[in-house]
Amino acid sequence: MTTTGTPATDTPVFAVHGLWKVFGPKAGRVPGDPRLADLDPAALRARTGCTAAVRDVSFDVRKGEVFVVMGLSGSGKSTLVRCLTRLIEPTAGTIAIDGEDVRAMDRARLRTLRRHRAAMVFQHFGLLPHRTVLDNVAYGLEIQGMGRGERREKAAEVVAKVGLEGMEQRRPAQLSGGQRQRVGLARALAVDPEVLLFDEPFSALDPLIRRDMQEEVIRLHREEGRTMVFITHDLQEALKLGDRIALMRDGRVVQLGTPEEIVGSPADDYVRAFVRDVPREQVLTVRTAMRPPLSSEEAATGPGVSPDATVSEAIEAVSRAGTSARVLDRGKCVGVVDAGALLDVVAGASATTADARADRAVPAPRREPAPPTATTSEEPV
Ligand SMILES: Nc1ncnc2c1ncn2[C@@H]1O[C@H](COP(=O)(O)OP(=O)(O)OP(=O)(O)O)[C@@H](O)[C@H]1O
Ligand SMILES: [Mg+2]
Repeated sequence: MTTTGTPATDTPVFAVHGLWKVFGPKAGRVPGDPRLADLDPAALRARTGCTAAVRDVSFDVRKGEVFVVMGLSGSGKSTLVRCLTRLIEPTAGTIAIDGEDVRAMDRARLRTLRRHRAAMVFQHFGLLPHRTVLDNVAYGLEIQGMGRGERREKAAEVVAKVGLEGMEQRRPAQLSGGQRQRVGLARALAVDPEVLLFDEPFSALDPLIRRDMQEEVIRLHREEGRTMVFITHDLQEALKLGDRIALMRDGRVVQLGTPEEIVGSPADDYVRAFVRDVPREQVLTVRTAMRPPLSSEEAATGPGVSPDATVSEAIEAVSRAGTSARVLDRGKCVGVVDAGALLDVVAGASATTADARADRAVPAPRREPAPPTATTSEEPV
């Protein structure tokens, strides 16, 4: 779901190519040797004693996007993200930030990268227990060498931004889990990094607090357009936050795409099983269900929906109007969605092309659209 007010551009913040991280004895020989590189994890371990945590992974993180890395426990998410700033040393491959080779950086340059350009938010907050909220938030500025007055002023501003005003003098033990994670977030934001890296930041939080924090991330992203790399093993979280999602399995990226692509066109049976229970109508857009208008009259009448509207939103519009809806892109009718095609999406019918839909569009199936369910009513219409 696009959450950004600032459109993502094509300039990558991170460009990763052929990245490997192998743990174990003589790890360096694995990536370059096809007899080892192609082994499955168990066979590689048996043969060499090595674990390939990240295997030949390539992707770009675009400016202004929320790039989600999703996968089951042990699939290599943390290793991958730690390699980006060389908190873990990669075994092979290239990493660039804004075109600069991260693997060629010396220690001073790496320090600048970690302190100024890419800030990390961790699952267990990583707060300093004896420091106040304000001083925890100011910590990154302190190690940057900023003076006390200036850093406290900046920290107070960021504390307010994440909704912790009035708690500046508390210590971490006097905060709830959600509040602690807000401090973790504020500390990362305080250094005004180009990119925020989140390693499962909300998985220790209870569901309601977790939702609050997700909203917070969406809000910050919308307001600031900051680039984010967000790790999660939670599919709902990935779909909610991600502009694009890289789905990992056993160290490999098995699919990289928008939430709509992942849910609508799973690359293989593994991804299909992963997304099986997703309410498709809340993720897929009307583009999936639209067909060309059959007449100039159809192109000129009926309610209008945006091409980015979800199927669930379009069902509401079609249901309310009792006719098909026009998909309007900057005022121009680019297609039509009718109740039948929308319900096919809900039912999980395999993706059909717009042409195929046009073929069977007349007579239009006269089925009553389902009323929106309780879960869809939370979505903006
Ligand atoms: N220092 C290490 N030495 C050896 N193997 C490691 C090391 N760190 C990670 N691994 C292995 O690499 C694989 C990927 O681990 P990683 O921590 O990246 O997974 P993850 O997807 O982040 O999992 P989780 O969701 O549980 O955090 C796992 O098999 C793990 O056991
Ligand atoms: Mg992890």
